[in-house]
Amino acid sequence: MTDTSKPGIFITFEGIDGAGKSSHIAALAQAFRDAGRTVTLTREPGGTALAEKLRNLLLHDAMDPLTEALVAFAARRDHLVQVIEPALARGEVVVSDRFTDATFAYQGGGRGFDWGQLSMLERLVQTGLGSQADVMREPDLTIWFDLPADVAAERLAAARVPDRFEAQPQDFFAAVAAGYARRCAQAGTRFARIDAHQSREQVWQQVWEVLQARGWLKGEPR
Ligand code: TYD
Repeated sequence: MTDTSKPGIFITFEGIDGAGKSSHIAALAQAFRDAGRTVTLTREPGGTALAEKLRNLLLHDAMDPLTEALVAFAARRDHLVQVIEPALARGEVVVSDRFTDATFAYQGGGRGFDWGQLSMLERLVQTGLGSQADVMREPDLTIWFDLPADVAAERLAAARVPDRFEAQPQDFFAAVAAGYARRCAQAGTRFARIDAHQSREQVWQQVWEVLQARGWLKGEPR
């Protein structure tokens, strides 16, 4: 259904592996649906048939940091063109599990890839998609689940078979977390930091308050 009476909203979730985003992403999508909005729920790398193939390569095949960054951005370009931009143009709420901040955190912070070159790729891939040719598409809001790397490692130990990133040592995740913190400091009001080292209810309360402060959801958390 087309919902062009309301402007589209683009929300991304970020955090190191084990930060506990998943259940909150689903709950937020449902809260928007309950409020009468049409929601596109998606993820990166992924969200299209091509981008899901690239995800599989990124998570399982060895490659150097530049190749990693290019694969992540190639998947992102297809995702933006095929899914994100059309949904926003229809006035939908797009909720994505990860987006470009993950590339800065994992390939920039974690792998040590040059931050300035990532910024160039970001501009190349995310500009000229909507009606205004010179505007770079960015999330309207990024909800960052901040969790110490040692706590995340404990949570991940109980998880399924690790992929190429989940199998990294704790130092890697500390560097990824520092990458997110750097990105947060640069992004200003786009970023909302959530203290993820709390109970599920307390974390959800924080997420709800962020959405309420922007006027996008009303009332008590559900
Ligand atoms: P994740 O989103 O955590 O999915 P799952 O819950 O199925 O494990 O996995 C995606 C992984 O890809 C995660 O470890 C972060 C990594 N990643 C990058 O390295 N760069 C990127 O640009 C993106 C989007 C993800």
